[in-house]
Amino acid sequence: MSESPPYESWLRPTLSTYMTYLPNGALHTAREYTSLPNFPPAEHSLFKIHTHITPQGFIFVNLDSSPIPFIPFATQFGDDFLPTPNPSSNPNSHINEYELFSKDSWTYDHTWESSTAGTRYNWKTFADGFQECYHCATGHPSTLPRDFSLSSYYLRQGFGASRHFLPAKTEKEDEMGESYITWLYPMGAIIFTGTLMFIARFDAQVALDTRYQSETYQKKDLAKPSHRYDEWLAKDVGYWRFVEVEDVELAVAAQRGFMNGVLGRGRLHSVQEHAVKWYQDKVRETLTQHAETEMREGEAVDYSIPKEQAAFEEADAVCKMMGPEIEW
Ligand SMILES: [Fe+2]
Repeated sequence: MSESPPYESWLRPTLSTYMTYLPNGALHTAREYTSLPNFPPAEHSLFKIHTHITPQGFIFVNLDSSPIPFIPFATQFGDDFLPTPNPSSNPNSHINEYELFSKDSWTYDHTWESSTAGTRYNWKTFADGFQECYHCATGHPSTLPRDFSLSSYYLRQGFGASRHFLPAKTEKEDEMGESYITWLYPMGAIIFTGTLMFIARFDAQVALDTRYQSETYQKKDLAKPSHRYDEWLAKDVGYWRFVEVEDVELAVAAQRGFMNGVLGRGRLHSVQEHAVKWYQDKVRETLTQHAETEMREGEAVDYSIPKEQAAFEEADAVCKMMGPEIEW
């Protein structure tokens, strides 16, 4: 894999202090540079990234630096975010949580970061647990089995998303409502109920250092400060935060199991854990395809690095001579 020469690490921040860009990303000024005869600003603009806004208002960002991304949105998510997925492509598409999603009524409130519950796990270990509710009864004994009808729990396998539906017990319907959990391959989630929404992502520092971040949104009509807001924070958010902490603790424990050989190869339940297999197959397929591409190209492939930048780094003789010390 190519590495940036160390001098770039300080050159870039130093330059950026004196560079300004227009809203369209074109270089506007670069102190002491823009007056040079051989410095065309147009060649030093920011490179474009790709965005996709779903009908629900979710904005997806793809940092692929190519004009046409290697993986377009439709290749990644298919019809997962269409308001009414095509019934012929999925017999269960009559269940569509986003028909219930009100895109104009959410306000960002805060982000919860999970490191206090543990960080020593791989993000894929957490993702495994997110693909099933087999663990719900024993992994969340004081919450989910008490308030939700786990026997009616339902999972609809999407194109790049696994969509979980957790209906409240009949006597708890007014209090809890139905909960919708959409896992986005590879490492994100959208979770919403009638009163809150979490947009979850993972900050994976290295293989065994992961932090789960839960962006928390509230309905616009909850004024701050107010008794209703405090109650929402303590009761609604507090309920799910407790569940999230348990999930992180489960991931830490499962990781320990993988590392000491207790967990490993085994048989997944064909009904309860079919999405775990779906997920693991997707990871395996992605890694295999990427490895094959790199073997074919004869070099490391990173779609977020502009081609000309990668070529520059590849051509640098010093970079090629250096081993891991280049990090310093
Ligand atoms: Fe869980």
